[in-house]
Amino acid sequence: MRVVQIGLGARGRTWARVLREIGVTVVASADPSDDALAWARDAYPDCPVYADFRDAIRAHAADAAAVITPPIGRADVLLPLFDAGLHVVSEKPLETNLVEATRIVRAAERSGRQLSVCLNFRYLEVTRALRARVLGPRGAILYGTFLYHINRDGRRPGLNRFPLTMDDPMLLEQSIHHIDLIRHVYDAEIESVAAEIFNPAESMYRGDATVSAIFQMDRGIRASYLGSWVTGTNVRAFEWRTDCERGALVQRALFGDLYEGDRTGPLHAVPVPEVEPFVTDTIGYARAAFAALAAGTPVPCSGADHLRSLASTIACRRSSDDGEAIHPADLIAEADAALTAAS
Ligand SMILES: NC(=O)c1ccc[n+]([C@@H]2O[C@H](COP(=O)([O-])OP(=O)(O)OC[C@H]3O[C@@H](n4cnc5c(N)ncnc54)[C@H](O)[C@@H]3O)[C@@H](O)[C@H]2O)c1
Repeated sequence: MRVVQIGLGARGRTWARVLREIGVTVVASADPSDDALAWARDAYPDCPVYADFRDAIRAHAADAAAVITPPIGRADVLLPLFDAGLHVVSEKPLETNLVEATRIVRAAERSGRQLSVCLNFRYLEVTRALRARVLGPRGAILYGTFLYHINRDGRRPGLNRFPLTMDDPMLLEQSIHHIDLIRHVYDAEIESVAAEIFNPAESMYRGDATVSAIFQMDRGIRASYLGSWVTGTNVRAFEWRTDCERGALVQRALFGDLYEGDRTGPLHAVPVPEVEPFVTDTIGYARAAFAALAAGTPVPCSGADHLRSLASTIACRRSSDDGEAIHPADLIAEADAALTAAS
């Protein structure tokens, strides 16, 4: 596969390495930032760089683009790529606005090109081990409880800056991953969402940095969720507990630390291979996505699949504002209706 990389910021620098490690050919890269272009020239001197991605795709024949720009306004980047006949692998969330995200997914469908959205945590070793057990011999899922606390310093050098000023930074930058994981691991759709979203007084974020929600899912599964980027200690906490008919699975860190047990005794550690956080998982995702593009088979984490995670995420905001439960499928139908009315 010949790939143009678009976006060379904090996450784009991981992607630059990942694309080379999985053996695709990066024919050019693009980013309007002088700093990003200087970094790319230094790190990959043989790869041509452009300030405008349109110049890159005009100058170089390519099969696909990897898009690692901030999520707001992604249609401006993605729609010209489909018009140019490229497949697209995009970072999450596809957009922060569901109508715009739906517009992108429908444009991909019309173009006959494939769109995949990077939900790399599906490719963590711990996620694979958890999913195999949750969908395995432990029987029906009774309920899930997902807790995530981190005192995220959004001003830390080397970290992106846009979450400091965006609406719903926790929800759209972080909870989207967790909500997608809940759908993926339980192999169940979210039917309705009741949520409260707020910003703790000490928050450095302009938008709300704490999300609490209850998801009602297929097969009668209920999952409760609390995620926050503002905490009273720098000690992180992660616990994703899934109680089943015949036992429970408890994940105690995002990148590993899995336990299982039943009512007869203590929890036992489940061996999970060591990983390089954000790299091993992104390599796993990217390998699967580009292999599917090369083979002409359906990509993992397709645009349509991502819309369901994104709609469930945005349903949290709607529920918090309206004070009632929201059905994510209704939000996708509303977005399609808005696009039809505008056309
Ligand atoms: N999946 C993950 O684990 C993970 C981790 C971190 C970030 N991300 C996602 O990656 C995306 C990028 O985040 P980041 O941390 O790299 O942000 P960043 O702000 O550090 O970098 C974004 C880069 O995109 C460039 N850019 C903006 N508009 C562009 C355009 N039209 N063409 C080309 N380049 C453009 C900017 O100049 C900047 O260099 C976000 O969607 C974020 O949510 C995902």
